[in-house]
Amino acid sequence: MEIFYRFLLLFLLLAFAESKCNTTTDQSLLFKAFKSVSGFNPSWFRPSDLNCTNSAIREIKLSSRNLSGTVSWRFLRNMSVLQTIDLSSNSLQGSVPGSFWTIPSLVEVNLSKNRFGGKIGFEPTFDMGSRSSVQVLNLSTNRFTNLAWLSGFPKLRVLDLSHNDLRLLPSGFANLTKLEHLDISSCNISGNPKPISSLHLLKYLDVSHNAMNGTFPTDFPPLVDLKFLNISSNNFTGLVGSDKVNKFGKSAFIHAGNFTPNDSKTPYQSHPKISPHKTPDKSIPINQNTTKEKPKLKTRVLVLILSCASAFAVFAMAVCIPCLYRKRKMARRNRWAISKPVQLAFKIEKSGPFAFETESGTSWVADIREPSSAPVVMFEKPLMNLTFKDLIAATSHFGKESLLAEGRCGPVYRAVLPGDIHVAIKVLESARDLDHDDAVVLFEDLSKLKHPNLLPLSGYCIAGKEKLVLYEFMANGDLHRWLHELPTGILNVEDWSTDTWENQIDGVNESQVSSPEKMGWCTRHRIAVGIARGLAYLHHAGSKPVVHGHLVPSNVLLADDFEPRIADFGFGRNTGEDIGTDVYCFGVVLIELLTGKAATDGSVVAWARSLVKEGLGVNALDPSLRLGDDSVSEMVETLRVGYLCTAESPGKRPTMQQILGLLKDIHPTAELN
Ligand SMILES: *[C@@H]1O[C@H](CO)[C@@H](O)[C@H](O)[C@H]1NC(C)=O
Ligand SMILES: *[C@@H]1O[C@H](CO)[C@@H](O)[C@H](O)[C@H]1NC(C)=O
Ligand SMILES: *[C@@H]1O[C@H](CO)[C@@H](O)[C@H](O)[C@H]1NC(C)=O
Ligand SMILES: *[C@@H]1O[C@H](CO)[C@@H](O)[C@H](O)[C@H]1NC(C)=O
Ligand SMILES: *[C@@H]1O[C@H](CO)[C@@H](O)[C@H](O)[C@H]1NC(C)=O
Ligand SMILES: *[C@@H]1O[C@H](CO)[C@@H](O)[C@H](O)[C@H]1NC(C)=O
Ligand SMILES: *[C@@H]1O[C@H](CO)[C@@H](O)[C@H](O)[C@H]1NC(C)=O
Ligand SMILES: *[C@@H]1O[C@H](CO)[C@@H](O)[C@H](O)[C@H]1NC(C)=O
Ligand SMILES: *[C@@H]1O[C@H](CO)[C@@H](O)[C@H](O)[C@H]1NC(C)=O
Ligand SMILES: *[C@@H]1O[C@H](CO)[C@@H](O)[C@H](O)[C@H]1NC(C)=O
Ligand SMILES: *[C@@H]1O[C@H](CO)[C@@H](O)[C@H](O)[C@H]1NC(C)=O
Ligand SMILES: *[C@@H]1O[C@H](CO)[C@@H](O)[C@H](O)[C@H]1NC(C)=O
Repeated sequence: MEIFYRFLLLFLLLAFAESKCNTTTDQSLLFKAFKSVSGFNPSWFRPSDLNCTNSAIREIKLSSRNLSGTVSWRFLRNMSVLQTIDLSSNSLQGSVPGSFWTIPSLVEVNLSKNRFGGKIGFEPTFDMGSRSSVQVLNLSTNRFTNLAWLSGFPKLRVLDLSHNDLRLLPSGFANLTKLEHLDISSCNISGNPKPISSLHLLKYLDVSHNAMNGTFPTDFPPLVDLKFLNISSNNFTGLVGSDKVNKFGKSAFIHAGNFTPNDSKTPYQSHPKISPHKTPDKSIPINQNTTKEKPKLKTRVLVLILSCASAFAVFAMAVCIPCLYRKRKMARRNRWAISKPVQLAFKIEKSGPFAFETESGTSWVADIREPSSAPVVMFEKPLMNLTFKDLIAATSHFGKESLLAEGRCGPVYRAVLPGDIHVAIKVLESARDLDHDDAVVLFEDLSKLKHPNLLPLSGYCIAGKEKLVLYEFMANGDLHRWLHELPTGILNVEDWSTDTWENQIDGVNESQVSSPEKMGWCTRHRIAVGIARGLAYLHHAGSKPVVHGHLVPSNVLLADDFEPRIADFGFGRNTGEDIGTDVYCFGVVLIELLTGKAATDGSVVAWARSLVKEGLGVNALDPSLRLGDDSVSEMVETLRVGYLCTAESPGKRPTMQQILGLLKDIHPTAELN
């Protein structure tokens, strides 16, 4: 009996402790949220670090922790007291869903210096009426796009969107009545700044380095309360009085546009003279306060220095940001030409081993003495006689500017080989322990798998332990990026054609003009059918099935005509993976294609499945697909196929051949391509 009471006491104590400390809930949410983030260390949030009074997590501060991968934002949504999240200076990717911003306790968010992309804020048609309590938001230096709606952020005091690819001014500034600090510099924004003119409390405003037009100062917020202003590098017109120059400094108006060189106190001339050729003198107003000659000379020198500096900055950007080089072949060649100094540096240290560092800080080592001793075998071009040395040259010493992506199997680089052959080079980190001869046999076998929906191996190079495989470069990038990160083009279809996504997107083709088709059901269906064909070929064409083992949207590349090509097959992974696993993965891809949601964990699949089961599949469809016509029933049917593929029991899943048949029946025109 006594023992029983002791147990009871112990139990009560434990139960009490449990109810007092809610850490575990927050912790497990946090761990789930960072499950697909590599570099995340759960011990950073061990209970020992958080005592009971302090149990729920208020702050997530993971700046400069070398994190990469994607955050599952929905889990953070349920952290009841989260106030601050700082993930700045990592390599995180993916888009931030609207629901994240509605965490009621959230005050400060810093996602700067990452690779986040996609939209910002609340989509009016989707999260209507959503509100965020965030006051300080720093999204600087990412890849966010022109789909930005800020009206749901009425509490914002500080907003830094600089160094993104917004193209258009975000909408909803009128609702940001508390905003004091706004930085939208270097966002490639064109158009008029008028929407920000209602921001009466602004103290800090940086719109520099865009392509905005409009009139200064009439289209701007009141300047009296501003402490900092920079309108440099734009296309404004109007008048900059000396009072403004005295207040904000000359460097706030460098190449700001076409200004009337007039010092009169009239704040604004309604018809500023517009001269066809701007001269630097005109764009920089001259300080009235000082004597004429010397300052003018000084100004000239300053202008000269600054324009050289800004020319250099532009030049440097052009070198650093691969996306600047899309489209124009000439320009692309320049890029390789510019990388020459690196090659020279390489020539100095002639003998290996050669270590290469990637953007995320990982490194790989080609342990060979002489770089020309490791041949590159090109299956289709046996006479090319390339070696590892050529790969080093074509990737500027495997430099970060050539890095396309860092997949889970290793870094992928882009290169143009002699003969203008555009390839992606993947370092197979998982194959380091593979014996040289086994690797050769594997690569030779893989090169024989040929199908229009497979991305075949074009070649390989074995440098010490490192195995490098070469693929044809696919200019439209991968399906994940296309589906989840690129703008849908709803707002501004024309803009799409000039969108700048690095990674594989920054290719050469003009066919991206057709990308608004992302919203078109036909394109998505065609992609589904193509993937099904490729997989069916892998499973059923040869004498024994080839299991892909890791079919995810980022492994599906899109050719110029958006025909999908499955990559990364055949590098045998866990033995547990079989055809059924591939079918399941295909089902997940189908669900992503239909719902437009990234299935980074099981929940999207579970959600879609439950809707289909209840006969409500239509509610799961991606709202940005053009709904409303007959295609809805086709989409619902296709989603049902996704449901069948993701059956829990592998025995219940259809084969890829059956799936291909079903998909073709749903939308027969798919056969016409
Ligand atoms: C712990 O969670 C319970 C409900 O799950 C809640 O009632 C209680 O207030 C929480 N305690 C703390 C200290 O947050
Ligand atoms: C426990 O929480 C209190 C109050 O938040 C804090 O001052 C203290 O440093 C914490 N102790 C440990 C060991 O974390
Ligand atoms: C968050 O909480 C809601 C209800 O409080 C629950 O329905 C939902 O499943 C939770 N989400 C996650 C990801 O835990
Ligand atoms: C993140 O941004 C916030 C607000 O802009 C700032 O206070 C904080 O210092 C930033 N963190 C880092 C590491 O830069
Ligand atoms: C935003 O973050 C960047 C880089 O982390 C930093 O340089 C900048 O000062 C921050 N902006 C604000 C407004 O704090
Ligand atoms: C933004 O402001 C407009 C007009 O003031 C108002 O109608 C709208 O409801 C506001 N939107 C949000 C999300 O607060
Ligand atoms: C800026 O946008 C224009 C089109 O609006 C595009 O042509 C140009 O390449 C973009 N520049 C950068 C640096 O992204
Ligand atoms: C301002 O820029 C926009 C977008 O680039 C353009 O449509 C418009 O014609 C320009 N306005 C003037 C006055 O140049
Ligand atoms: C200003 O506009 C002209 C043509 O309207 C364009 O050529 C120039 O690149 C623009 N300058 C900036 C800084 O956007
Ligand atoms: C304004 O921006 C330009 C170009 O980005 C820069 O050269 C200049 O130093 C900035 N001026 C101020 C006052 O920050
Ligand atoms: C002239 O310049 C001096 C310092 O350079 C400054 O104190 C003064 O306010 C200026 N006067 C006017 C009218 O701008
Ligand atoms: C970044 O993480 C990689 C492993 O993912 C590690 O090898 C590297 O040392 C880390 N770099 C830094 C600067 O911590």
